[in-house]
Amino acid sequence: MARVMIIGAGGVGQVVTHKCAQVPEVFSDILLASRTKAKCDRIAERVYQQYGRKIQTAALDADKPKNTIKLIKKFKPDMVINVALPYQDLPIMDACLATRTHYLDTANYEPKDVAKFEYKWQWAYHEKFKEAGIMAVLGCGFDPGMTNIYTAYMKKHYFKKMKYVDIVDCNAGDHGKAFATNFNPEINIREITQKGRYYENGEWKEIDPMSVHKPIDYPGVGPKESYLLFHEELESLVKNFPEIERIRFWMTFSENYLTHLRVLQNVGLTSIKPVVFQGKKIVPLEFLKALLPEPASLGENYRGKTVIGVQIEGEGYSGQMERRFIYNICDHAESYKETGTQAVAYTTGVPAMLGAMMVLTGVWKGAGVFNVEEFDPDPFMEKIGQYGLPWQETTF
Ligand SMILES: NC(=O)c1ccc[n+]([C@@H]2O[C@H](COP(=O)([O-])OP(=O)(O)OC[C@H]3O[C@@H](n4cnc5c(N)ncnc54)[C@H](OP(=O)(O)O)[C@@H]3O)[C@@H](O)[C@H]2O)c1
Repeated sequence: MARVMIIGAGGVGQVVTHKCAQVPEVFSDILLASRTKAKCDRIAERVYQQYGRKIQTAALDADKPKNTIKLIKKFKPDMVINVALPYQDLPIMDACLATRTHYLDTANYEPKDVAKFEYKWQWAYHEKFKEAGIMAVLGCGFDPGMTNIYTAYMKKHYFKKMKYVDIVDCNAGDHGKAFATNFNPEINIREITQKGRYYENGEWKEIDPMSVHKPIDYPGVGPKESYLLFHEELESLVKNFPEIERIRFWMTFSENYLTHLRVLQNVGLTSIKPVVFQGKKIVPLEFLKALLPEPASLGENYRGKTVIGVQIEGEGYSGQMERRFIYNICDHAESYKETGTQAVAYTTGVPAMLGAMMVLTGVWKGAGVFNVEEFDPDPFMEKIGQYGLPWQETTF
């Protein structure tokens, strides 16, 4: 029986709230707090209609630790699940430290004025969390999150030495809009317009954005053009499994999506450099975000599936070469039926709920800051299917 405070009432927050509400034996009391309280209330109402459970809600600006500290002191959660934006990671971690509350998130910290995400800022909190005797679990969504756990599982069960790791992420769904992003547009566009990066033979190699691509055959979906991007789990997986010789991240994009993105970039709308408009400073990307559909609103007409997984080639425990592929297929319409959001938010929110459960039930233990591949993957892999993300295994 634990009290959990969820911060962020977007698409992912909606899924986490539904999922926690489905498990009252662990999450006995739930508070959903976000910048716009009306969004929390809408989610709480849906949860009440669906499961008859009352969720508390609150308005919170989590940019300032003092606001979060005040709310934590009032609600007294055992854990905070942060599914607001990456900009809030550090202020929320500060609030957790000040109140000795466990912390979990799904995306690493990113400063607002530089499009750069790295773990160094959050890893620097390790000693402080350790001294406080609390845990911070970083990157417990799908990718990062499930992909790190798939990798840890394959290391534990199949590979003496993992040589080549490819994380493959396909969204073969269609939301019927001309252009929209599947999660927060600002974060999504910052992620894919920066230079691509992968790791090979001890060094990071940089490429121009979207310049390396190839078709990858996704189970249940077929071949889809996939683009090499930098993604945050590459950084932690290389640190925690130094044996890896090469690791890359691939994501599918449709021609339509890429054409829209090119045009928006060419006219300057994806820039994060402020411009003066009618006497006021505005950030073009923030303005663009205001025009695009909210990710949480995409679910209703979304059809198709996501397929995300990890392919590993390396030396097996009996000395032979092994190729293993673990993946999940998630259906947009089914995710919507259950939680009112599409599969990208669903596949992020389910591991966040289960990660919180692992900590609160004492299965994942420790004090400090951890990436999820540092824990035993087996208890997580045993349970994740029953909560909505069954996995499959094959060779490739
Ligand atoms: N690991 C993964 O697989 C994965 C995949 C997708 C997304 N993510 C991460 O999940 C997080 C949520 O994504 P999303 O798609 O749900 O985004 P979203 O729909 O934009 O939701 C973000 C929510 O955070 C709230 N918020 C923003 N600033 C805040 C502040 N200062 N204080 C309190 N609340 C604040 C927003 O409030 P308003 O409604 O008032 O704007 C919004 O409700 C992001 O960090 C994203 O990077 C991870």
